[in-house]
Amino acid sequence: MVKPALSMKPTGWFQVAWSAEIEPGVVHRMKYFGQELVAWRRADGSLTVMDAFCEHLGAHLGYGGRVENDRIICPFHGWEWDKDGRNACIPYQEKPNRVRRIRTWPVAEKNESVYIWHDLNGAEPNFDVPDVFDVYDDGRGAGDYYLAYPEGILHFEKKELHPQYVMENGVDYAHFKFVHRAADVPRFTRQEFNGPVSYASFEMLFGGTKEKTVMTPNGAMVGGVDAINVGIGLGFAKFWGPDNMRTIVAVTPVDDETSDIRSTVWLDRLPGDENPHQPESLERRQRMANNQFLADLNIWEHQKYSDPPALATAEGKGFRAIRKWAMQFYPAGELGSATTPELQTAGTDAGPDVPENEAENARVPQA
Ligand code: FES
Ligand SMILES: [Fe+2]
Repeated sequence: MVKPALSMKPTGWFQVAWSAEIEPGVVHRMKYFGQELVAWRRADGSLTVMDAFCEHLGAHLGYGGRVENDRIICPFHGWEWDKDGRNACIPYQEKPNRVRRIRTWPVAEKNESVYIWHDLNGAEPNFDVPDVFDVYDDGRGAGDYYLAYPEGILHFEKKELHPQYVMENGVDYAHFKFVHRAADVPRFTRQEFNGPVSYASFEMLFGGTKEKTVMTPNGAMVGGVDAINVGIGLGFAKFWGPDNMRTIVAVTPVDDETSDIRSTVWLDRLPGDENPHQPESLERRQRMANNQFLADLNIWEHQKYSDPPALATAEGKGFRAIRKWAMQFYPAGELGSATTPELQTAGTDAGPDVPENEAENARVPQA
């Protein structure tokens, strides 16, 4: 493993599961940010994520622990802990221990996904996870798409990659030609930063003759991607044009060297189809979407963070801007060993210098 120069303890929201994986009444084990965790649901479905070890004598609640009456019960001596990690009952004593508390993690659950907030210093969340449908404000909602789980998901555990690699993909216009087999580079139409959120949009021309898209006079179709990074752990995207879908790529550090990476794809619904799950006829489309993700992953999981990078002139602005923006998610003293000096000082929110004519006639496989 080439150990990343950047800290694996960034601040923000990170995906730790899909909702369906945490069933009612079950204690779900997981490990993120070097911490053993458990997740469990109360009767109303609401979710608690907490440290895995009992504050009594340290048993792991994920091995034999059980959920009853909205409490998690330790397998060792039966102490009961509530949704806030407070001791609610010691079965062989009248009063509970009101002082000791198991640490709970801020949780958000939406878009079939479970997120936790990580901050090395324990600060509370200072932004929300957006909804992958509402955030684009285009009148389309979850009902216009098939469920993503389970047909539209991919999950790889403990890959040697850093969330920042994936986030930088959004400004890396040149890789589309080489990794995604676009005929040419796409045309960037937006690069903006707003607090913890960054936006990158680009357009491409597609070949083919499907109907539902905007045609240009020469017959090619306009399509594109509107990407939204939410912190450095979550990459949302809206694909429009020949194929419409929403995707989330999520990278969550497991320990100081590895991350889990998840891809979630919502394909748009075929007219008149009421089934919540995508039909078999869309298997090929799902596979093509997966293949685009896997092509990126093949790079990311073997990549070494290049700092300072050798950039083509036109790449400079975009990379400088996104690396500067990303710094807000690294706690002081945790940034890592190597940092490009000019990245610390360069202040620009302008988009990358992509010559307009380079983007003409770009064709990519329909993903
Ligand atoms: S270690 Fe959990 S109740 Fe004793
Ligand atoms: Fe990519």
